[in-house]
Amino acid sequence: THPIIFDTDPGVDDAQAIAIALRHPELELLGLTTTFGNVDVEVATRNALLLAQLAGRDDVPVAQGAAAPLAKTRLPPPAHIHGGNGLGDIPLPAVTGRPDPRCAAQFIVETVNARPGEVTLVAVGPLGNLAGALQLDPGIVERVKRVVVMGGSIREGGNVTPVAEANMFNDPQAASRVLTAGWPLTLVGLDATHRCVLTPAHMARIETGQGELGRVLAGSYAFYRDFYQTFLGIDGCCPHDSCALAWLLRPDLFTTARGHLNVVTEGVAEGQTLFAPEGRAYAQERWSHTPLAEACLDANGEAVSDWIAEVL
Ligand code: BDR
Ligand code: CA
Repeated sequence: THPIIFDTDPGVDDAQAIAIALRHPELELLGLTTTFGNVDVEVATRNALLLAQLAGRDDVPVAQGAAAPLAKTRLPPPAHIHGGNGLGDIPLPAVTGRPDPRCAAQFIVETVNARPGEVTLVAVGPLGNLAGALQLDPGIVERVKRVVVMGGSIREGGNVTPVAEANMFNDPQAASRVLTAGWPLTLVGLDATHRCVLTPAHMARIETGQGELGRVLAGSYAFYRDFYQTFLGIDGCCPHDSCALAWLLRPDLFTTARGHLNVVTEGVAEGQTLFAPEGRAYAQERWSHTPLAEACLDANGEAVSDWIAEVL
């Protein structure tokens, strides 16, 4: 079993991943931490509480985190992709639970330190909460088991600019700190997630298997699907955030490479992920001095999408 903290900005594809985190028998979900990104952080927190409630898991703590990027003005949330409420603008039931009194960064630090060497951080939004945890207690670098980030793009190109993936672009300073911190880290970016398409047939299976939660997953999926159809000409959606959990539980479905990672923090290429494969002799010394990490370069998309539908 993997004890995890799931850091998220729900968001339609986040909601699918949260459902996996709440349901999968090999995951021990220690808490959900929320950030701005697909929606404002207060909305992200409401959605996280609601999804846990609908899964009958209101025992899972939800700690609210970053409301804005570390060093730039935040963009308005992408309501045309995730809906104004983050869940495709479907009507939502009232939330009964309340967030944890701790902020996300504090929650991460305390939870990791309580179980040294055991906890995996899975982050699928902008990375301010992980950057905040590093700042509060740099020692957690030695005490987390692993960090799995959905974000970035090595060869695939971007989804918010020609070079930048959304989670990196929304807080590039935080992303740079997290990717160069020196903890065991795996980046699951668009090179993997764009290989995966969750089809209407997959979602039909998920809807019938998940009760009230299934209604929310299917309703929000319908909205997200319209966006993919209109803007990308695909019938189905990339389940970006679920891919981070798929990597954790089924690494055999992904191709990875070791190397040095960083993110461009300003200028026209802001948010671009940089990946220097291990052993490459670059003239710029700083590349060989940043810590080694691991990045996904490809995925068996069909198998990952089937795995998601199977789990749910
Ligand atoms: C990432 O950006 C968000 O919109 C999604 O939830 C996912 O985390 C994909 O680029
Ligand atoms: Ca997300």
